[in-house]
Amino acid sequence: MRFLGIIAGSLLLASCVASTAETLDVNEALEYCGNQIDRTLRQLGRDSMDYTMMPRNIASTDSVWHCRKTTCDEWCAGFWPGVLWYEYEVTGDENIRSEAEKFTSSLEYLSKTPAFDHDLGFLMFCSYGNGYRLTQNPKFKEVILATADTLATLYNPNVGTILSWPRNVEMLGGHNTIMDNMINLEMLFWAAKNGGDHRLYDIAVKHAETTMAHHFRPDYSCYHVAVYDPETGAFLKGMTHQGYADDSMWARGQAWAIYGYTMVYRETRDPKFLDFACKVTDVYLNRLPEDYVPYWDFDDPSIPNAPRDASAAGVVASALLELQGYCQGELRDTYKNAAVKMLTSLSSDSYRSGDKRASFLDHSVGHMPAGSEIDASIIYADYYYLEALLRLKKLNQANDVLATL
Ligand code: GLY
Repeated sequence: MRFLGIIAGSLLLASCVASTAETLDVNEALEYCGNQIDRTLRQLGRDSMDYTMMPRNIASTDSVWHCRKTTCDEWCAGFWPGVLWYEYEVTGDENIRSEAEKFTSSLEYLSKTPAFDHDLGFLMFCSYGNGYRLTQNPKFKEVILATADTLATLYNPNVGTILSWPRNVEMLGGHNTIMDNMINLEMLFWAAKNGGDHRLYDIAVKHAETTMAHHFRPDYSCYHVAVYDPETGAFLKGMTHQGYADDSMWARGQAWAIYGYTMVYRETRDPKFLDFACKVTDVYLNRLPEDYVPYWDFDDPSIPNAPRDASAAGVVASALLELQGYCQGELRDTYKNAAVKMLTSLSSDSYRSGDKRASFLDHSVGHMPAGSEIDASIIYADYYYLEALLRLKKLNQANDVLATL
């Protein structure tokens, strides 16, 4: 009964995402990723491997990875180890596992350092989290539990959210929380289930609830940044940092919301989060261009000449492959078909880096207002693309088994 509202709201979507012929060859796409990973490892190892230098981006005019040191302000340092862990999951190749372990280990110090900002979940759960999931190495568990406690030090109970950017409190006029922060909650949920304090679960739920209450406009599109009074917890303003305007729908911000609320539903099984995940998804799907890869901001007035953001498409494809599993009937098909359509576009020559670069994908936008990483290959686009391919492979395998019963 409670899903009727979601189903009604999604009828429009269902007609837009008519059943997608699965032209995507998932195994071929995974093989492509494997080849690009080999190329990257060869590139990185050319002058002997430095495991503290992580691939971050390749400009559209360039062909080699620009790497960054694993410092606490390099929020993307966990994605390359995460790519290697997914590749190990796909292939079982012990050489890849060994590389994954070495790159992952270079992040250990973050579990012993005071929190620089909220990105600890991205940093440590994509790396150590995947590593623990696949190897059960008790050392990895220790590191994740310690990091979850560190992340929780940024929680402000007056507000009910984690402070995303301690360094920007003065500049932004208060306790700031960005939509991206939703992803970092996954590590808190995990820690609470795996020997950590139950308080971490409560913090994650409260953060998701507070964000749901203030961070969205009536059409369920989100602000990038919400600013709160740190003493009273009052919501002061919604604004952007990486989007086109305060009231625009920045593609990756909305992607984090879709992924985040899907994950929060998984961890809580509270139907209000499922309902919300569908609502924030529908506003995104209803406004996509034909190939289902969004412009970097849905409200950039230069559309259709604005750059796309393949990273948002990868994040959303992965999220929808999970979300469809929590839905029924037509809505389930709508979300799965949309994800396949996104992955089909990303796997085409229009988005693949191919021979030009060792990344998987071109055409992502990091920080348009700062003029950085525009129409580039970016490591988190590759991470979520690979995650989504793996999720689709598992889903197809599960469906094949069901079909034989
Ligand atoms: N700040 C994370 C992002 O660029 O999505």
